[in-house]
Amino acid sequence: MIYCESVSNPLLEIADLEALSKLAKKHNTPLVVDNTFSPLSIAPAKLGADIIIHSLTKFINGTSDCVAGVVCGTKDFCLALKDVNNGAGMLMGSTLDSLRAASILKNMRTLHIRMKKHSENAMYLGQKFEKDGLRVVYPGLKSHSGHEVIKRQMNLEYGFGGLLTLDVGSLENANALMEMMQDKKLGYLAVSLGFYKTLFSAPGTSTSSEIPLEEQEAMGLGDGLIRFSIGLDNDIHRTYEMMKSCMTHLDILKDVPAQV
Ligand SMILES: Cc1ncc(COP(=O)(O)O)c(C=O)c1O
Repeated sequence: MIYCESVSNPLLEIADLEALSKLAKKHNTPLVVDNTFSPLSIAPAKLGADIIIHSLTKFINGTSDCVAGVVCGTKDFCLALKDVNNGAGMLMGSTLDSLRAASILKNMRTLHIRMKKHSENAMYLGQKFEKDGLRVVYPGLKSHSGHEVIKRQMNLEYGFGGLLTLDVGSLENANALMEMMQDKKLGYLAVSLGFYKTLFSAPGTSTSSEIPLEEQEAMGLGDGLIRFSIGLDNDIHRTYEMMKSCMTHLDILKDVPAQV
């Protein structure tokens, strides 16, 4: 199979799903896409993916109170996963509790509104931080290497997603900034995403720490990289001002007067 993430974790690279689908079909192999970072904004099935997987733990549930996942494919494929004798779903015990499934389904009813707000807020912060001279990666910015590809394959109304990264130069800076932002109640230091509050983590020492250091360097994953899952803040300008204050206070952003 060809296996990819539509928006990759943590570097937010964009997979060209149409091109991958053509390649997969040419070689008669299935294209499997993890669409956890971009529900609604990217619809991999429409771009030729055969199997789509989502962590429900993140945006789709949206309340950071469960661990769950979903596999979407043809009816035959999904029934085969549940085959009592040899289905992978049966053998690995991945049957979701029915009450929890119903609870996730209820939360999913607001996904469209939440995705729009996550995207709007992330775009606002991405543009502001880029203007301030920070190293920002956000697929909605023209400077992003996958900007044209995502524009071609996304549902524009849901925006470019809620994830962005900032490189603040060193792990010390990253840790100090995250702790300060948490103290100021701007969000939580946590490895999940898709919550109503902003969540931040340093992937090099958390979710991607299993990748050897040399490989992290080669792929552009510096230890000062912070991954943000931007929340549903009503006043994102206020959030921006507070984040900027933290960065100025810690000398990450120079030439801007500190207010903390
Ligand atoms: C892109 C992606 N897919 C899948 C998962 C797995 O999710 P879960 O926490 O629901 O096992 C994660 C978790 O971080 C993820 O980032």
